[in-house]
Amino acid sequence: CGIVGVLGQHEAAPLLVEALKRLEYRGYDSAGIATVNNGTLDRRRAVGKLVNLSDLLVHDPLPGKSGIGHTRWATHGAPNANNAHPHQSGPVAVVHNGIIENYKDLRAELASHQITPKTDTDTETVALLTHHYMQQGMTHVDASRACLARLEGAFALAFLFDGEDDLIVAARRGSPLAIGHGDGEMFVGSDAIALAPMTDTITYLEEGDCAILTRQTLDVFDESGAKVTRPSRTINTDASRVDKAGYKHFMAKEIAEQPTVLADALRAYLDGNTIVFPGTLPDFTKVDRLTMVACGTAFYACLTAKYWFEQLAQLPVEVDIASEFRYREPPITPRTVALFVSQSGETADTLAALRYCKGRADSIVSAVNVAESSIARESDVALPIHAGVEVGVASTKAFTCQLNTLLLMALHAAVARGVMTQDQLAEKLAHLRGLPGLFNIALERDAAMADAAHKIAEARDVLFLGRGLMYPLALEGALKLKEISYIHAEAYASGELKHGPIALIDKNVPVIVMAPRDALFEKTVSNMQEVMARGGKVCLVTDAKGAAEAGEDVWRTIILPTVDPVLSPLLYALPAQLIAYHAAIAKGTDVDQPRNLAKSVTVE
Ligand code: G6P
Repeated sequence: CGIVGVLGQHEAAPLLVEALKRLEYRGYDSAGIATVNNGTLDRRRAVGKLVNLSDLLVHDPLPGKSGIGHTRWATHGAPNANNAHPHQSGPVAVVHNGIIENYKDLRAELASHQITPKTDTDTETVALLTHHYMQQGMTHVDASRACLARLEGAFALAFLFDGEDDLIVAARRGSPLAIGHGDGEMFVGSDAIALAPMTDTITYLEEGDCAILTRQTLDVFDESGAKVTRPSRTINTDASRVDKAGYKHFMAKEIAEQPTVLADALRAYLDGNTIVFPGTLPDFTKVDRLTMVACGTAFYACLTAKYWFEQLAQLPVEVDIASEFRYREPPITPRTVALFVSQSGETADTLAALRYCKGRADSIVSAVNVAESSIARESDVALPIHAGVEVGVASTKAFTCQLNTLLLMALHAAVARGVMTQDQLAEKLAHLRGLPGLFNIALERDAAMADAAHKIAEARDVLFLGRGLMYPLALEGALKLKEISYIHAEAYASGELKHGPIALIDKNVPVIVMAPRDALFEKTVSNMQEVMARGGKVCLVTDAKGAAEAGEDVWRTIILPTVDPVLSPLLYALPAQLIAYHAAIAKGTDVDQPRNLAKSVTVE
């Protein structure tokens, strides 16, 4: 979820909606705002995307220069209008990102005072309890602070009060919160980018902080209740709106711009044949392990990078899903580099895993797309992936840019550890420089991918197969297809097919095989034969040589230009993305904002 608050000089509603637009990556199950207008608190809420709230506000405007807003990714309670934030009890309205873990206990306690909730949410409990404390004679601020002291879980909260035109209480525990300073105005938001149209002067709250905002003042209290000063800084955020540049969907635009984006991303890291990192990377001669942690697509980027770090740099790598890693409490030695990959830099599980590694690992490195994100700020070194703003919920250019950054890091480690010469590095960099050109050629094969995708869209289940570096890519291809076309898709390492999944094969199950003509190709062809012998339909994604050797029984072949095998995951990401995109178009789904998903999940 995303939250925002405004104590402004102008009407708050349009500012709140604009900020929520920038926070919609955190969820779009419902949206709502509350304002105080001449002392009167009121709210508007709408189920579904933000546009529904905007429409509602046209017919039923909400005046007032103070307000709070919310865009929701449902956790507790179905995504209906009643469960939409802001939640209100009497004079208290609240917006919330995170989970109040002890809300059932608090509800039971409130029930003993004959206070009953009207929604299924954990958030409403915060409004009810604060209201209850106010009824016992506490001031607005004291009641909210007393309530905060009772809450368990991870959250960011903003409170607005009836009768108070110049007051917002905000608190952060677990979820990030930024305070924005204007000229006689004060703002609060889940991230600085949400506030970019209003201000670039930001104070980040720290863990456990509670902030009391008026238009002129910001008072911050730390976990112990002591008044503290938190520095403000000027943030470089691009306030300009991103647009589709003539494409039907952001996802199509973000796929198509990869040649340019990748070329720029590479240029940002290269000075001739020297790889230049912003900040000092760990000494790779002094560490013996790399632990990589991420979620979703970023996790598949890590799985790919494991092959690179192990093969090129001879550095053992562990890769884990953040939500598993954090609770398994794995031993982390001081000779371990911990590397976190996240497009948004705000994913709650990844952030928690990072905090677990602090003080345990040699160093904390991250690869992020949002420089001001929590993960970037809490790392020793944050490497920007330079993908630019990614709007489509299904990650595309951020994935290839993550791969680019991780490959550069693996090449750097390989040279540092003495297992790669400068000449070999120069050769790999030359191949990398040629990659955008290969992407452009591959983009010209769009019609073949669309043709295969339209057929694949008729299937109920789809399998993706890959070996070596193509295995993580098969996983990413299956994830893309699931995310935006809602077709059930699974990926297996080609060699694993015979150990179970082959039972699924029949003429109705398309099998997409990612296989450049590399050292493993013949083995993959054998696995393909096993599929075809059982009536399975193979869509082979390969190069010209691979296509010639694969034989004639293949159902569809998508031919990509020949690429250096080490770089193949970057290029082969393109058909994985375009097959999913065209299948989603054929099915008529909401490509940029698929159901049930959020671009960044800020709860665990
Ligand atoms: C969500 C998104 C995925 C994304 C994952 C990790 O689940 O829907 O597309 O890969 O979060 O996001 P991050 O911002 O940490 O890369």
